[in-house]
Amino acid sequence: MPHASPLAGKRILLILAGGIAVYKSLDLIRRLRERGAQVRPIMTEGAQAFVTPLAVGALAADKVFTELFSREDEQDVGHIRLARGCDLVLIAPATANLLAKMAQGLADDLASTVLLATDRPVLAAPAMNPHMWAHPATRRNVARMVEDGIRFVGPGRGEMAERGEAGEGRMVEVLEIVAAAEALVTGTAPSAPQPLKGRKAVVTSGPTHEPIDPVRYIANRSSGKQGHAIAAALARLGAEVTLVSGPVTIPDPAGVRVVHVEQARDMLAAVEAALPADLAVFVAAVADWRVADAAHGKIKKTPGEAPPPLQLTENPDILRTIGHHGQRPRLVVGFAAETDDLLANARLKLARKGADMIVANDVSPETGVMGGARNSVTLVTDAGAEAWPEMDKDEVAHRLAERLAKLLAE
Ligand code: C5P
Repeated sequence: MPHASPLAGKRILLILAGGIAVYKSLDLIRRLRERGAQVRPIMTEGAQAFVTPLAVGALAADKVFTELFSREDEQDVGHIRLARGCDLVLIAPATANLLAKMAQGLADDLASTVLLATDRPVLAAPAMNPHMWAHPATRRNVARMVEDGIRFVGPGRGEMAERGEAGEGRMVEVLEIVAAAEALVTGTAPSAPQPLKGRKAVVTSGPTHEPIDPVRYIANRSSGKQGHAIAAALARLGAEVTLVSGPVTIPDPAGVRVVHVEQARDMLAAVEAALPADLAVFVAAVADWRVADAAHGKIKKTPGEAPPPLQLTENPDILRTIGHHGQRPRLVVGFAAETDDLLANARLKLARKGADMIVANDVSPETGVMGGARNSVTLVTDAGAEAWPEMDKDEVAHRLAERLAKLLAE
């Protein structure tokens, strides 16, 4: 018997969905328990058509949960406690139907509800007919779930239970699932593909605040949502990301080193300190000017006196500075928020600022882009302009990160 498994003492919520492969999950329960894990099973209605809760419960030495609206269970444990009171959620077998529900966030039975409610790592071992696994709908669902942070083990290739059918779709062997669960709890599991592993990235985000006096400032409108999303997306693809953020009210993204700054000059200094880097994405709405001589004390309003004159001076252009820098990253990307002549202005910026790509977005007030969750962008490079349909800022970030990874790999 194996000893000192990282699963020892871990509480595993095992979701069994309705596929013939569920017979292997009986052995899986045994193997997990051998390693000292506690196994709490949830069975879908489909799973119960293949094996009985009695067999599952006996092997797990625990109650088997099956009902979303069970008066007894809801008083006793409840689906939220099931979802949170574990170290790992394991789905074996994960059927096409359950994957589709998860990808959509549906919650119409106990298993799918717990999967929507959990904040624990989730590992899925898919099992289905090869045609179902290869179907574009399943491909889409799996891609979406990988983005959502769900881990997968398998499926493998081989003979199906259906006679004469072979291909990719078989649930992997039980010990392979155990190994994947062990890797996940020890934090050594590979998640999504990481094409930016080993690459360094710098991202600027948010506005800058340029003081007039200690209580007043000049700023651009910027929530930081798009820049923060890009930093997070690059990190998900494996990049080591430094996010230089101006003052924003949104939280720091996960997995990213964040440097908080106020003024353009500090933002430039923080970007330069993060060099060398492989790529840089300048999303911040940097104030073009600052007050030449910011007052040290609050400027007083004196009745009858004219308002104070403000002498402005130009801020450094961070994108242009880095675009022509001695340590210029291989890929330099700028944003162009415009209300008029979007493409013409983006093309001008590409050349003038020494960027490889300008992501142009129309921020006319009627678009609702400013501070909103959605964005509609056009990528402008020397090769031409590519207009993307309107989508969530997170989706823009994800696709842009993938595009940049591809460009870096070329
Ligand atoms: O010239 P404009 O401000 O429209 O250029 C926008 C692009 O340049 C954005 O990528 C922005 O982050 C960057 N920029 C900068 N420093 C400035 C002004 C703009 O990095 N001072």
